Amino acid sequence: MEPLTIAVLGATGRVGRRVVAHILASEDLELQAAVCGPDSAALYEDAGRLAGVGFSGLAVGPLEPGCFGEAEVVIDFSLPGALLAALPFLDGAALVSGTTGLSAEEEALVAAHAARAPVVRAANFSTGVTVLLDLVARAAAALPEADVEIVESHHRGKLDAPSGTALALARAAAAARGQALDEVACYGRVGRGEGRALGEIGIHALRMGDVVGEHEVWIAGQGDRVRLGHVATSRDTFALGALRAARWARGKDPASYTMRDVLGLP
Ligand SMILES: NC(=O)c1ccc[n+]([C@@H]2O[C@H](COP(=O)([O-])OP(=O)(O)OC[C@H]3O[C@@H](n4cnc5c(N)ncnc54)[C@H](OP(=O)(O)O)[C@@H]3O)[C@@H](O)[C@H]2O)c1
Repeated sequence: MEPLTIAVLGATGRVGRRVVAHILASEDLELQAAVCGPDSAALYEDAGRLAGVGFSGLAVGPLEPGCFGEAEVVIDFSLPGALLAALPFLDGAALVSGTTGLSAEEEALVAAHAARAPVVRAANFSTGVTVLLDLVARAAAALPEADVEIVESHHRGKLDAPSGTALALARAAAAARGQALDEVACYGRVGRGEGRALGEIGIHALRMGDVVGEHEVWIAGQGDRVRLGHVATSRDTFALGALRAARWARGKDPASYTMRDVLGLP
């Protein structure tokens, strides 16, 4: 089989560089394009050198029409504005997208690409988090009276808070109880209130140092607490998950997919 051709949007970023490194190390994958912002300090640098894996012969280019070349799949770890600006340039390429912090309206614009090609969107491409989402839903449903509190930690450079993963975990717990997250979410509790409402889901964000990404979900009742969690020890977990999704998306029908589909979870 011919190598799968991939373009990376956000190729100069923390996650994008790990995606580039793994593509260049994989015989079944071919790096077709590496894309960053028009004002990037790394513009036109060699994508492999930037990723720390040596000369690749492919320079990082700006986001502009035609920037993704003939790539079959575009992998995106960038910014909401960059992802939205990239949509018209995707043509028929599949999209594997991990950028977080999009509004519901912006998510709908991204999802519209699924009319033309497969779209795999995930707030967290780590397979461990995909399994955690399942576990949290099961625990929240089995313990309907218990208090759910979610605490996430990330590095000081992360722009959106709470994390997309924390929101996905909260949504999974709410949905498992037949709740709408908007009606039960309590973000970063402060001040004097009337105490904790039954069914409330607390969500709290810590920003510190170089934390790659940690999520802890407490499900607390009278006399005991269940604690479920996930620790990303390196960004390779996101890069490898996104590449697994890219390989899986090849030949799939145009539609919106999640990492559950990629992992074959029921
Ligand atoms: N789904 C997941 O598994 C997962 C995991 C980790 C992070 N994330 C999310 O992925 C995103 C990226 O995270 P990160 O830590 O890699 O961020 P980062 O290091 O800040 O990288 C952002 C990338 O976006 C590029 N960019 C910025 N403006 C652009 C523009 N106008 N056009 C094109 N590219 C542009 C940057 O390029 P230049 O600045 O060089 O132009 C850089 O390559 C965030 O939303 C983060 O929350 C998702």
